Amino acid sequence: MQVKIYDDYEKLSEATADEFIDTIKQKPTALLCFATGNTPIGTYKALAKKIKEQELDVSKCFCIGLDEWLDVPPEVKGSCYYDLHHHVFEPLGIHSSQIHLFNALSTDIADECNKMNELIESKGGVDCMIVGIGKNGHIGFNEPGVSVKLQAHEQVLHIETLASGQNYFSGPVKIEKGITLGLAQVMNAKKLLLLASGMNKAEIIKAAIKGEITEMIPASCVQLHQNVFVMIDKEAASLI
Ligand code: PGA
Repeated sequence: MQVKIYDDYEKLSEATADEFIDTIKQKPTALLCFATGNTPIGTYKALAKKIKEQELDVSKCFCIGLDEWLDVPPEVKGSCYYDLHHHVFEPLGIHSSQIHLFNALSTDIADECNKMNELIESKGGVDCMIVGIGKNGHIGFNEPGVSVKLQAHEQVLHIETLASGQNYFSGPVKIEKGITLGLAQVMNAKKLLLLASGMNKAEIIKAAIKGEITEMIPASCVQLHQNVFVMIDKEAASLI
């Protein structure tokens, strides 16, 4: 586990974007996994700028999303579909043929999970995955108590996730469950970037990277990851 501490959010975002760039340069056909949430937005801005400046060809990459709010339509701002298109795929110039996301409106969630699992398998695993961390220690929608052995699955959302989730939407949206890559897939990512910024993440960062490895803090499993970069700013690092 490499813990990298940056002076501020901007430097954290620049450095995280560089990690993606390195992966794409080393493997132009890389499978990239993107998270939503507020924390990675700076990374995505920096990534779009660097790709343009460096004239990097991203036309052979393939992109997947980490998770999705079940039953929230894709045109709703705050859905992972909407936010990833807005912050990542459009700015980076990623074509729809290079993208696979969970379908929040699917009537067959098991099939939705299988399709994602098979896609990851068929591409030989995720080359670079970026994830945030919830204040309850979740990664994606892997909530406290989830097994580290799970692949893509449906998840009833934790009360904290339901509360913080409302902030991503412009108006009240009914959310109850999510669909997410499982911790088995997080642990198998060839490069994992775990991002956190700000004082309100300091406590959970301390618990996740210095505390006991426990299913009650899903992010604590990254202590056992073979190639994880914990990318945090000074505030998020203030208790470690
Ligand atoms: P945030 O969300 O980046 O908006 O803080 C992180 C998460 O809940 O995974």
